Amino acid sequence: MAPRSSELILGLESSCDETAAAVVRAGREILSSVVESQIEEHAPFRGVVPEIAGRSHLRAVLPVVEQALARAGVTLDELAAIAVTQRPGLIGSLLIGVSTAKALAFARGLALVGVHHIEAHAYAATMEHAVEYPLLALVVSGGHTALYRMASPIELVKLTETLDDAAGEAFDKVASMLGLPYPGGPAISALAQEGDGRAFAFPRYSPKGGGIGFSFSGLKTSVLYALRGQDAGAPAPAPEAIPRRADLAASFQEAVVDALVTQSLAAARREGLTTIAVTGGVACNRRLRERMTAAAAELGLRAIFPSPSYCSDNAAMIAGQGWHLLAAGRVAGWELDAIAR
Ligand code: KG4
Ligand code: ZN
Repeated sequence: MAPRSSELILGLESSCDETAAAVVRAGREILSSVVESQIEEHAPFRGVVPEIAGRSHLRAVLPVVEQALARAGVTLDELAAIAVTQRPGLIGSLLIGVSTAKALAFARGLALVGVHHIEAHAYAATMEHAVEYPLLALVVSGGHTALYRMASPIELVKLTETLDDAAGEAFDKVASMLGLPYPGGPAISALAQEGDGRAFAFPRYSPKGGGIGFSFSGLKTSVLYALRGQDAGAPAPAPEAIPRRADLAASFQEAVVDALVTQSLAAARREGLTTIAVTGGVACNRRLRERMTAAAAELGLRAIFPSPSYCSDNAAMIAGQGWHLLAAGRVAGWELDAIAR
């Protein structure tokens, strides 16, 4: 049997619609990262169906763990710990990951570490780049849109979060209005390339009286009005009959990107932070990457992004941050429980 390394962590992620496992050495070196997506199962419903997600995680979790270990060329007995997403997420989905991690860790005498999914997204941006703390992290996903002040890989303070929809959720809902497939982000981003981002003057939220914040529900309603006229209850036109669909997609995307860039830069200035780490599924968006990079550079700031496969849900970020939690002695007991919020 190979000697147990104190640096190898198996990460497990099952908070939403991806079953993922990864082996990471010392918080940074990704030896394997396996992601089994359920997108095709949820696509007909244009969103994640919790019951389907739970069943699908149950089917996938052990094969995904086995693949991650095999690709990394390590066995369970060589690990220092198993890190698992504990919160937030769909409770039935989280429970599959947490129960699996507990069972494997208990059976093999490994340490168990509970990881906060959104904080791990923020950590993901720092895995592929050398960074200096403190920095600003913008987490933009299907479930969350929030800014954090990050003082170390594991010390995060939330500065603000969306009052209503997450940015990714807005992409998904507007895509559905435009008759585009789920998930909406990639579909809108592709269609937007053929459109004019200045064609429609959609609103950009900023908090009254200054300050930083996000809200995307007003923007979503504006797109609905642009589509159906002032009667939002009017029947939706058939997707092919929607006039200027590409302009709508481009103008919507521009409004989301504008809000994300403006609020992030305002937060960086207010907090005196010079690095902006942008992560979460929406951080795959090309326009966001271009605009954030350019706007940050204008102010002498640096914007960093994970590569696309580590923007969306993955377990490398869980194993990576799990290593720092383990090093700080933040080990969980067997009472570790999944928490939805
Ligand atoms: O981080 P993620 O994989 O899962 C959550 O934790 O939510 O994010 C998924 C979200 C979806 O809403 C999807 O539409 C959005 O990220 N997304 C994008 C793009 N790719 C994925 N949004 C805008 N542009 C993209 N290229
Ligand atoms: Zn996520």
